[in-house]
Order: sequence, then structure tokens, then C-alpha cells
Amino acid sequence: MKGKLVIVMVGLPARGKSTMARKLGRALELDGVRVRIFNNGELRRKLDTNENTTSSEFFSPANTRGQELREQISRINIEEAQCFLQNSGEVAIIDASNVTRERRRRIDAAFPDLPLCFVECLNADEEALEANLERKAGLKEFRHLTRETALESFLKRIAYYESIYEPLDVEANRILVDSFESCILLEQITDVLPYYDRIRDIITTRVVRNLFLVRHGETLYNLEDRIGGDSNLTDKGRDQANALAEHFATVRIPIIFTSNYTRTLQTAKPIAERQDPCSIIALPEFNEIHAGICEGMTYQEIRQRMPYVAKARGPNKYRYVYPEGEGYTTMEDRVHRGLKKVFFLNNYDENIMIVGHRAVNRMIISSFLSRQEEEIPYIYMPQDRYYHIQIDPHKRIFELVPYKSTPGVGGGW
Ligand code: F6P
Repeated sequence: MKGKLVIVMVGLPARGKSTMARKLGRALELDGVRVRIFNNGELRRKLDTNENTTSSEFFSPANTRGQELREQISRINIEEAQCFLQNSGEVAIIDASNVTRERRRRIDAAFPDLPLCFVECLNADEEALEANLERKAGLKEFRHLTRETALESFLKRIAYYESIYEPLDVEANRILVDSFESCILLEQITDVLPYYDRIRDIITTRVVRNLFLVRHGETLYNLEDRIGGDSNLTDKGRDQANALAEHFATVRIPIIFTSNYTRTLQTAKPIAERQDPCSIIALPEFNEIHAGICEGMTYQEIRQRMPYVAKARGPNKYRYVYPEGEGYTTMEDRVHRGLKKVFFLNNYDENIMIVGHRAVNRMIISSFLSRQEEEIPYIYMPQDRYYHIQIDPHKRIFELVPYKSTPGVGGGW
């Protein structure tokens, strides 16, 4: 046995704490460690109180009843974590905002004989934070509110937390993490902590349980071999979207990430409709390669009317940049940024779906593969199959699955 450890998450709401806690929990579990997450928010939602625990006022520092209840929730989770660790548990993760020194001191005092590691999550990326707030506003606990009111209420809740927020400073073992970039910004470790090297690895490594990478269904432009544009799905494309919906009906997909283009949204819609609940998040980072002056043309027309484009692109497709447009090489940064958003927003759920385009999906898949750049623009990206990608320290699987077949092959989805 390696020893026991208490990991204490710290940070304002929507900064990626629970995602990080789940990532740590899941990876340690795969290593054979007996780990459990104690989440205050989940307990609050489960507790049957007379209070409206969703309202922003519940979180006001001036609301003594709210404060009491939140401290009570924290105490229950601490006691459960103590119990878990006194028995066979090895790592307890206390997942809550824990924004005050006083709250952290109390957690520390509750485990006098065990080491604690405080993990503070920051996210300096405004856009990702905004997208996360949007996602949160759509959650079940806000279902009774309109999107705008939910967002307003959540922002107010954050402001209350901000007003009492004391970042980590006196705690003996503390790590400051950028949860969007998945990197460690600062670490101060005084004690010898069990699992510490592993924890560092987990924080900075990307683990993909199930990424379903789908290309949109057939479009009018596809039929004519035209590139770019924003055309609609054909009847066949709509059938493909419906077949995907049927195929994934028994696989839980909480969020579908798409581009801003109609064809990916039209493909995602029927899939989302078969799920409960499922939101569609359109990311501009996943828009298809912009072909500049060639947008809307067929490959044949380009060869005839702009032979210099065809001639230059042919031998150097990855590096070639369309006049007034993009190339694979110039898409790299934005697509990687889109992926960071996906992992930040997906709350470390085991299933992620992206509905993208031919070139974008090639870039996405290549970020997990070690392929020569000249091979990337030729990665096979059909419309009647999707890629099922699984990556963890023990396996790397890229499987092309026809979606008329039954999902669940291999189990564990
Ligand atoms: O034809 C569909 C499409 O998604 C176009 O919009 C895009 O320009 C093209 O595929 C990308 O593929 P390639 O780089 O092979 O031309």
C-alpha cells in the first residue's frame, strides 16, 4: 500500500474543478487506487431542504441560513471522506469551491494524521469561461429559469464567491492549475505526498475515454464536389443524421460539439433529440478550412480556372494556404484551441461527440496520432462511418465504425 491522501479542490465556480477532480479520480482508479470524490454541489442538489439552493441568494455571504447549510454539507462530506479513508479508501477528493482559508483550515484539521494536497483551478481564458457559464446555465438545476435568468443568477453566485475568495497561500502542499490549458502554473509541496508524481502526470495529460468523431452528413455541395460554403444536408445527409441518432440512442452523449456551419448543426440536431438531456455547442474553431478565393468552386473548376492553385496545392497540401483563405497548417492552432474547449467543457464525461468536417476532423484526429504532416490531408474521413477514439496510458484505439451497425461493440461505453 502506498499510503493515503486527501486531495482538496479549490476555485471559483465554473473553473473546471469538477472536471479535474473526475480526471484525477478516473485515472487513479485505472491505476488500481481506491479513490472517491466527495462533491458538495451534488450533495446540495440531493439534500431535501426547504431552501432554494439554486438561487444566487443562497450563496450570499450575508445569508446566514445559506452559510450554515453549506457548512453542514461540507461537514457531511468531510465525515464521509474520513470514514472512507479509515476503511479501505486510499485517496479522497473533496470537490467544492473551498474558497476561504477558514474552510480549508477546517478540512485540514479533520485529517490530522493524513497528508493533504490542495489543487486550485484557475482558468484565464475568457471565452472558455463564458462557454462554460453558458453550459452551466443549461443544466438541470436551472431548468425552471430562462437561459438569461439562469446565466444572471450563476454570475451573481460567482460574484458572491469572489467577494470571499482567498487564493491558496498558507497551505503546506498546493498546486495551482490552469484547467483550460491543462498545465501546472505553480507548485509548492512541503511533505512527501503519496501518488504525487502520478497526480502531476494526470493533470497535464489528456485522457480520452470515448471520443466519437463524426463528419457531417452529405450536403448539396458534396454532391457537386464543391468546397466550402454553408449548404444544407441532402435527403441522404438527413438520413445519415437520423441513422446516427438511432445508432447513438443508447449511448449517453451529454454535449455535441459542432462547427458554426449548418451542415454540422443539421447532423447534430437529430442525435441530440434522441438524448436526454443533450446540448449542442457550436465552436467556430471547428469551422471547415476556408478556401478563400476558391470557396464554392468544384475541384474541377479550380483546375480549369486557377491551375496555379491546383498545381501548388497538389504536392504540398498540408502547407498550402488558399489565397485569402486557410491551409491545414494555419488551422492547427484554432483546431487545437477548439479541442481544449471541448475537454474543458465536457466536464470529464466519458463520452464526447464532435460533428465536424473533412479537413477539421483530419486535424482533430492528427492531434492524437503521430503522423507525418504530409499524410494528414489524406486521412480517410468518410460520411457513412465515424471514428471512435480511446486514449489512456494503457491503450490508443482509433476505430472506424459504420453507423448502421449496433453500438456497444466492445462494451463499456
Ligand atoms: O469537400 C468538402 C470539404 O469539407 C471542403 O469544404 C473542404 O475544402 C475540403 O473538404 C477539405 O478537403 P481537402 O483538403 O482534401 O480538399
